[in-house]
This record gives sequence, structure tokens and C-alpha cells, in this order.
Amino acid sequence: MNLSGLRTLIVDSDEISREILRSKVQRAGLEIDRERPHGLIAQQTIQEMQPDLLFVAIAQPLQRALQTVDFARAVVPDATIVAYADEWSPTVERRLMQSGVNDFLHGKIARDQMNAVVDRALRKAASSASLPTEPGARVIAVVGQKGGIGKTTTSTNLAAAIAAAGRQSVLLIDLDTRFGDVAVMMDVRADYSVSEAAREVETLDRETFLKMLLRHDSGACVLPAARDYRSWLNCSPEQIQDLVRFAATLFDVVILDTPGTFNDVVAAAVGAADRLVVVTSSDLASLKNTSLLLEHLALKGLADEHVIVTLIHGHDQEGPGRADVEFAIGRTVDHEVPFDRNVRKATQLGVPVIMWKPQAPAATAFSRIAAHASGSPAAALDTVAVRRRFFGAFGSRRPAPAAAARDNIAV
Ligand SMILES: Nc1ncnc2c1ncn2[C@@H]1O[C@H](COP(=O)(O)OP(=O)(O)O)[C@@H](O)[C@H]1O
Ligand SMILES: [Mg+2]
Repeated sequence: MNLSGLRTLIVDSDEISREILRSKVQRAGLEIDRERPHGLIAQQTIQEMQPDLLFVAIAQPLQRALQTVDFARAVVPDATIVAYADEWSPTVERRLMQSGVNDFLHGKIARDQMNAVVDRALRKAASSASLPTEPGARVIAVVGQKGGIGKTTTSTNLAAAIAAAGRQSVLLIDLDTRFGDVAVMMDVRADYSVSEAAREVETLDRETFLKMLLRHDSGACVLPAARDYRSWLNCSPEQIQDLVRFAATLFDVVILDTPGTFNDVVAAAVGAADRLVVVTSSDLASLKNTSLLLEHLALKGLADEHVIVTLIHGHDQEGPGRADVEFAIGRTVDHEVPFDRNVRKATQLGVPVIMWKPQAPAATAFSRIAAHASGSPAAALDTVAVRRRFFGAFGSRRPAPAAAARDNIAV
């Protein structure tokens, strides 16, 4: 282990390319502990040393390089894996992202890019080192009694904001039994879903569970929704609640996204949560449902200070203002998110607006809600650093392929 506390490894069969990379990493302030060529020897080293930061050269034969990546992801799920290649290729990039690499550097690696990679690996290691072993995470359920009012936008932005602040580990669980579009909004692809994890909850151990999760660029982990309604029927609300409680032993903050109708799964989420972000829009149907929901929560004994009411203006039209909304629901609105075209654009790109345009009006509102809900003023982001970290390694981000389909759902 070097002075930074990170165990570092390069896997590259080409000696010259290895040397170049090593000197770039050193210039960013890190020593490399070990270097190996691809193949069995690399796999043995990964298993033995359990690196925190792993650089993997992507060169011919491609299959062998990808095997190293897949092996590393499975054996050290918490590690930061950085793939690097001489040239960019869309198919390779997509394959690497599916394998769960954290960064893909290609062409000549600029100093800034390497600094960003090292910075992020250090933060990630620091946040996983602080994982609590006892239950005690804050579970935040994002609820609201209507579709298309901004629940998923809120939960994805909260997860990204809290994770990117680098002080708390975050898991976002998609409990939307109908649309389940967290994975699309965060542009991550799923192998496992909530219902699969919930079904196995009694025998689930830490390692198996962590392998089921996707890692978002912000550092947040994501457990996506089941793909179809039938899969939800294979697990019970009790199992979902147990799953949330189990997750709360592994992460500092667990965020639950929920559907627009109050079903057993939402009840399970509310039962497991110790903070509720109640999202409402200002239209009449939503206001009526919000006041019914607030009444229901009060009856359940949820203390008022644990409920965070958020008014989101998801449409351009003039509607009732904050004072009218407060009158209609009989309660103070804690946060207001203005209508902001950047949110629409970010949704289409599959990026939380907080990372895409941290200075946008909606992004600063989400940042405040993140600080409030996570109980950590630290979640108020250093937005410039977040933006640099997010874009640093990729250059400009391309739109998510699935995003075009996104706007047709949920509204
Ligand atoms: N503040 C906002 N300004 C503009 N558009 C918004 C805002 N908040 C949400 N939206 C848009 O509203 C749509 C529905 O949001 P979504 O989060 O999917 O709602 P829900 O999860 O409640 O169904 C998305 O296209 C999203 O981009
Ligand atoms: Mg939603």
C-alpha cells in the first residue's frame, strides 16, 4: 500500500505503455504498487492484493483485456477500475461501461484527466472506508401521489449530489413498480433488479449484494427496478423492507424512488424510511393527493420534521404559487424547485442536472434538498469540483442512447 493508503495496480502487457502510464500516475501524486501483464498472473495478483485502484490497458487481444476487467469487477467490487486505450471505440466503451469500469481514458492522457481520476479514487476509498457496520444509515423515501411530477428527478439528483460530495456512501433503490426509470435517468444498465435481490434477502451477504449494484459516475450505487410487473409479484413487501434495512447496514444513505400510486411497495418504503421527501406539483389533483398523503403520514405517526415537502414546477405554465400551495396542503413547503429547461435536457441525456449544469436553478435547489435530507450540510456541493470530476475523464459526454425513448414515459 502506498502513502495515500490506496493499493494500486497496472495491468498492461506492453512494457513501454506501462511505463508511460506509471509516470502519469506518479505525476498525479500516486505510486503504483504492482504491475502485471494480462492473463492469469494479473488475475492472481488482483485476488491477492485486492487493489483499490486498478489501471487496465485495453489492447489486442481485446477479449483478454476485457476478461481482466470482468474478473476485477467481480473480485474487488469496491475498486476503482480505470481502462485506458490508444484509441476510442464506441463498442469498446459501451462494453467497458457495462462491465462497470469507472473511467475510460483514451488517446493521449492529459494531466487534468489523470488528476481527476486519482482524486476520485481517493474520495471513493475514503467513503467506503467509512461505511458503517451497524445499522444507522439514513433512509430517505421520495414519494408523491402522481406520475410525472419529478420524483425520479429528485431521487436521482439527491443520490448524485450526496455521493459526489464524497462524504457519505449512497445507494439508490428504484421501487417504482410501474415505470422504474432510474436506470434510464442515470444511464446505467442493469443485470440485477430489486425483486431479485429482495427474493434472496434472507441469505444475502455483503459481497453478493454489492455485486448486484451498478455504479453511477457520481459514486452513487444503484439497484434498478424490476423490468416488468410480474417480477415484482415474486417478492413480498416484507422482503423489500428487509432488503432496505439490509442495505442500510452497508451505506450511509439509502434513497428510495417510488411510483405515483400508493401500493404495498410504497407502504414498505415509507415503513422503512426515516425521512420522507414528499414531492408535489402545484396542480389541483396533485395538491389534493398531497394533502391526503400528508394526513396519512401523520396518522402513521411520522413526525413532521421528518417530512420534507418539495414543490416542483415541472411545467412552464403559470400555476398556483407557493403560498396557495401551502394553504391547500395545510403545511409549509420546505423546498421549491423552479421550472428549468436544463432538467429536461439532462433527463434526455441520462445525467442528473446537478452534475450536468450544477449552477442551474433547479440544480441548486436539489443541492439544498440533498443537504437537508441527508442531514449533512457537506452535501451542499462544491459544484465546480463535481463537474470537473464528472466530465474530466470522458471529455464531453455523448447523449445516452436510451434517452430518446425516455420522454415518452411517465408523464
Ligand atoms: N424542475 C423541473 N423543470 C423542468 N422539467 C422538470 C422539472 N422536474 C422534473 N421535470 C421533468 O418532468 C418529467 C417527469 O419527471 P419524473 O422525475 O420522471 O417524474 P415522476 O418520477 O414523478 O414520474 C421529466 O421529463 C423531467 O425532466
Ligand atoms: Mg418516476
